[in-house]
Amino acid sequence: MSSVYGKYTTGNVTYDKYSLIIDDERQFIYSGAFHYWRLPSPSLWRDILEKLKSAGMSATTVYFAWSYHSPKSHLYNFEGVRDIDRLFNMIREVGLYLISRPGPYINAETNAGGFPGWLVSSLKGLARTDDPYYTAAWEQWLSAVDPHLEKFQSPYDGPIIAVQVENEYDVGNLSAKYMELLEAKFRKDGIVVPLTTNVYGDRSTWTSGPGAVDIQGIDSYPQGFDCRNPSEWHAIPTYFATAHAESNPSEPMYNPEYQGGSFDPWAGPGYYYCYELTNGDFERVFYQNQIAQGETMLNFYMTFGGTTWGWLPFPGVYTSYDYGAAINEGRQLTDKYSEQKLMANFFRVFHPLRKMDSIQVASPTNPTLYLQGRENKDDGTQLYILRHQDGTSITKETTKILVQGILGDYQIPREEGTYILIDRRDSKMLPCFYNFGNQYLVYSTAEMMTHTTVQGESGKVDTAIFYLGEMQYGELLFYFQNAVFEPSIEVFEGQLQNSHWDASRNQLRINYQQSQVIRLMISSQQRPLYLILASREVAKRWWNIESNEGDVLVSGPYLVRSAKYTEDGGLHLRGDTEIETQLKVVPSKVTTYLTWNGEYLENVKHESPLTLVTTLPGPPPVILPSLDFWKFKYGTPEKEPSFDDSDWIVADKNHTNCPFKPITLPVLYMDDYGFHVGDVWFRGRFSSEETVKGIVLTGEGGDFSVYSVWLNGHFLGTAENGTETFYFKKEELVSQGDNVIAILLENMGHDEDYTNTHNKWQHPRGLVQARLISGCSCNSDTSDIPIYWKIQGNLRGEEYIDSARGPFNNGGLYGERHGWYLPGFPDEDWEQIILPHRFSDAGVAWYRTTFELDIPEGVDASIGVRIEDTDPNSRYRALIFLNGWMLGHYINYVGPQHFFALPTGILNPRGSNQLSIAVWGQEGGEGLSHVALETYAVHLGGVPVEMVYSPDYKELFQ
Ligand code: GAL
Repeated sequence: MSSVYGKYTTGNVTYDKYSLIIDDERQFIYSGAFHYWRLPSPSLWRDILEKLKSAGMSATTVYFAWSYHSPKSHLYNFEGVRDIDRLFNMIREVGLYLISRPGPYINAETNAGGFPGWLVSSLKGLARTDDPYYTAAWEQWLSAVDPHLEKFQSPYDGPIIAVQVENEYDVGNLSAKYMELLEAKFRKDGIVVPLTTNVYGDRSTWTSGPGAVDIQGIDSYPQGFDCRNPSEWHAIPTYFATAHAESNPSEPMYNPEYQGGSFDPWAGPGYYYCYELTNGDFERVFYQNQIAQGETMLNFYMTFGGTTWGWLPFPGVYTSYDYGAAINEGRQLTDKYSEQKLMANFFRVFHPLRKMDSIQVASPTNPTLYLQGRENKDDGTQLYILRHQDGTSITKETTKILVQGILGDYQIPREEGTYILIDRRDSKMLPCFYNFGNQYLVYSTAEMMTHTTVQGESGKVDTAIFYLGEMQYGELLFYFQNAVFEPSIEVFEGQLQNSHWDASRNQLRINYQQSQVIRLMISSQQRPLYLILASREVAKRWWNIESNEGDVLVSGPYLVRSAKYTEDGGLHLRGDTEIETQLKVVPSKVTTYLTWNGEYLENVKHESPLTLVTTLPGPPPVILPSLDFWKFKYGTPEKEPSFDDSDWIVADKNHTNCPFKPITLPVLYMDDYGFHVGDVWFRGRFSSEETVKGIVLTGEGGDFSVYSVWLNGHFLGTAENGTETFYFKKEELVSQGDNVIAILLENMGHDEDYTNTHNKWQHPRGLVQARLISGCSCNSDTSDIPIYWKIQGNLRGEEYIDSARGPFNNGGLYGERHGWYLPGFPDEDWEQIILPHRFSDAGVAWYRTTFELDIPEGVDASIGVRIEDTDPNSRYRALIFLNGWMLGHYINYVGPQHFFALPTGILNPRGSNQLSIAVWGQEGGEGLSHVALETYAVHLGGVPVEMVYSPDYKELFQ
């Protein structure tokens, strides 16, 4: 094969206009996006990766968040939940390719778009330009991460096949020099795989000229990100082929991000709606349309969204990043996964797809439908894609289509009274003139899921699975080149409508109306063909798993993870069941016995043809403890004038690098004092005078942030993000000595820099204005009495104490600074309470409980915690800590999230767990009412889970 080598690549990964080529073999890249930093339990990374692989996907795409690894300038951590080498090894073991996206900017709905907290306050120049200060900053990051990427590249037997430069850097004030610097750095650090980039706007950006990458691709989210009207469909985008022809015709067509779901904002409708907006029908119609246009590299964003735990979210999203994705936040396979499995399995085996051109096709007989065609010029294989003209149509349409290829023209289906059905939101992808195994498929009106060749007792047998909606008509035509007599058909299950042998053309046509399953064998002088014609729903229960001895077809289980032969002919399957399940296996070779998750399977029966059948057990019932007894303590001592803040930082800076200057001085931006995430306290002292009437504050914490204010221990109120005046009561002021104003503010995360305006992400967090107002009748109401400020965020700021949990776990609540969120904290003297419970004073109070779990080994129970309140208007917010990890940010009156994932590994499935919840009552009279553990689902199976190192109170505080 002659391949055009990439512009700069020197490794084994090259490409031409059709596809990516690895070790001289063309690839179809079907990638599911996954963020290890959104699943803080490394053992479970394998669970997600195996689920991608078993769907038939070939790759995963991963963002590396700079911020997650760098708490402080020049400090980088790649250990524990940040151990990316472990991730790379797993990806390799599971057998996926990896497209790495290290930024430096990643967007991704994360705090500051992945820029580290320390950069927010220290950056003097413009981010995402060739500004030297910014350059020095990202050089640190790439110097830290590149050696890991370099080692795990494809030429060195690693999974990495491409590295993305920047992210959607195609709007705003673009700097080609910046792109060139990044690319030069990657090359200098030994990156030899193609460099890629993604654009959302200008399609021709970085395709040629200075800063051009090897492979540029277009991101597309045709359904947008507003999930409120999930049944509304947007137009199907069709510009990709033209864009490619115009801007980068010598590169493969690539979608670095195609819509796999949607994020949901605070107060949004919830992920159920995002799932509906981008459901299985959407996938089928929109994804097949990308194939019709010629995409051979597709990454779906997200395939597993996970959890934006701790303070990792930017203010636009809440903790759950479920994304309505194919694999939900609780790691469960959804129907979207099954739809993708049907397609990805086909792409895996249908190799001619890797080099196809668009062909002219005749219009379908039904003019409301739209037919597109592609052909591989080397072997004549074709693929037809049929859908509604108007992608938003929900009518049921029938049609015939004309397929024209090397064996002639066929108006299909040919059987009287039958037709192809496009049923509401639907699309069909039909392979024609396709040679697989020893068979030649002239055409099919059913879709093909997969095929393989197995070694049966009496020789090789080609096997294929086709699928159709139940009751739909199927017509398949096979050509038998050397036939001297009519092939025979033996039906094992279900029935055919008709079959027809055309002796003059050596063609056998079979017709059927789809029942749940029809199984038949076609025997001819050439190799026998075993066909499984399944309804769409039955096909979704089939798996085609790569083993060390060819592909193994398995049906029944919820999930099949892997298949492996040992020399004694034993076939060892791993997987998950959700109930007692019939297992059917079409092994790739003669098999002496079966095991499932290491257990020898008894009572294995032979079913004709080729199939081994037995029953697999389901999981035992899992009963979760109720959370009845809690320890409680109010914990807002900072509001009291007598509170000792002698070790707090004096906030007296008069200069900030932040492009948004404060209204009053000193600078009261938390980042300027080394505090970057979560809640932050300010305490100001002033000596009172008759004339002081109140204080004007402008608090900035991002959308849905609040700040609460106390004067000398008296609660003045809680304000939403923005400016508010708080009036003092005379009797609450002291005339001798200091008055103390105490303010608790929540930083909801730093904004992103999506539009590349160079500074949005640097919007300040803290107080932009703090001025006393006087009661005098002078020109200005601003009092000239100074306030002496102190500030306290998370314990020790950038020198934070807990490197296992990292820079996003804690803000500056008293309980956080004193370990109240940790296992092992001595809470014996706290008040014992039961829920529902209310506390009277505004401010922060803590609830703690412990619970034991005893989930048997080999059972994967995915567990979460539900919080509900009898009063949905009660104005409080809460931080949920499991075993010291902040896994949930709950705002009762905003929502929509009430259920929070507790990943196994942080959750101890066989032992004691500690749950701490910090409740910030914003008015007084709030508290927790209902907190309960629930399962997403329970399976027998799963992956072995190692506990994540989670230092306790003793280790961190004593
Ligand atoms: C893209 C961006 C991703 C993510 C996505 C929305 O534009 O590249 O990082 O933000 O939008 O989820």
